[in-house]
Amino acid sequence: MHNIQPLLTKTYLKAKSARGVYIYDESGKPYLDGSSGAVACSLGHSHPKVLPVIKDQLDKLQFVYRSQFGSEEAEQLATKLFELSVGKSHGHTFFVNSGSEAIETAMKVALQYWQEQGKPEKKHFISRWKSYHGITVGALSLSGHALRRQRFENSLEKYPSLHADLENDTLETQTKEFIAVIEKTGAKHIAAFVAEPIVGAAGTALAPSSEYYKEIKKICDQYEILFIADEVMTGLGRTGKWFAMEYWNTIADIVTIGKSLGAGYAPIAATMMTEKVLAPIKKGSGLIMSGHTYSGHPLSCATALKVLQIVEEDNLLANVNEKGAFIKNRLIEWKAKYESIDVVRGKGLMIGVEFDPAMKGLQAKLIDQCFNNGLLVYPSVGGPYGKDENGILISPPFIINQQETDELLAKLEQSLREVLS
Ligand SMILES: Cc1ncc(COP(=O)(O)O)c(C=O)c1O
Repeated sequence: MHNIQPLLTKTYLKAKSARGVYIYDESGKPYLDGSSGAVACSLGHSHPKVLPVIKDQLDKLQFVYRSQFGSEEAEQLATKLFELSVGKSHGHTFFVNSGSEAIETAMKVALQYWQEQGKPEKKHFISRWKSYHGITVGALSLSGHALRRQRFENSLEKYPSLHADLENDTLETQTKEFIAVIEKTGAKHIAAFVAEPIVGAAGTALAPSSEYYKEIKKICDQYEILFIADEVMTGLGRTGKWFAMEYWNTIADIVTIGKSLGAGYAPIAATMMTEKVLAPIKKGSGLIMSGHTYSGHPLSCATALKVLQIVEEDNLLANVNEKGAFIKNRLIEWKAKYESIDVVRGKGLMIGVEFDPAMKGLQAKLIDQCFNNGLLVYPSVGGPYGKDENGILISPPFIINQQETDELLAKLEQSLREVLS
């Protein structure tokens, strides 16, 4: 085997084709994509409205390098993102290729924002222990996800500093801790606070109370700290709104997106920012020092624009909310039947189930059993430092219909029964 996959000791089945919510292996066996891959394939596979756009774009313009040409495709996508952004506030977008890169660019933009105003000492970041922001060294430095972090601990910055429990501690405890960390570090050294509105891989769809982000943003403004909302997993419809921050009616200074932007059809992610953030950079150096060879790739931009148009035209957010509520309610009912289920939570089609952490190995066994039974679910962690491998995320494509939803639940319950027996 020449291709390196995550586990070097495992032979992975090869996927041969995919359509709608199903992926087929080489033997023709279907797998219901209950995780949208890595919570990305929001329109399912081989969507009949996306494929012609990709083919047409290839005939027209597949690539230009961003420092030599702009493209109508990138401009239209940035305009669409501005129109969808919370309070139409993020009018400037920098395109990259992955969520990790979007976070790296967000960090650099925050650093530059302060540098250009004569405050280069504002270079520290604050994040939460329960978080995952990406695998590149900067993004991993922000992430508390113990499993992904521990091997590189000595090479990482120690940015995660907030321990407060988002679900069980009071808002007062959470904000007091935030202020204490800011004051201990010194606001004059802090560039930004970075947080996932709803914690995904490191928190199993964990969300804070309805007042949390308003209060946190107020504190950020008071101490002159930028707020970066990492919406790589939550953004563009996954939680039933275009942006999860709409649930808190709070406008972040910088927003990162990825996953559902390209929806599995193109590798694309982005860092969006307000006029306030861009203005000093425009006035100062006039250049954001970030970017990659394929940033703003016209093929990816044209594809992502079509993805967003389909979500809008086909009213898919309504389906995300309807099927999400159906699945979540059913899982809550299961709690009475299965003692091993500790918590069910989530919004839209980002639904988390945490199992009893004392039942070591249950998560891995369940994910394997689901796979054998033709269902894909996504692993996530729980516990205060994300050390408990006891969660799964259920995050099927936005297009899932009722019959497929019933099948997802039936396969999940069958798999759970089998591993518990
Ligand atoms: C919230 C969040 N941020 C950033 C990333 C990194 O994105 P990518 O894997 O595309 O680099 C992820 C990936 O899971 C994520 O969930």
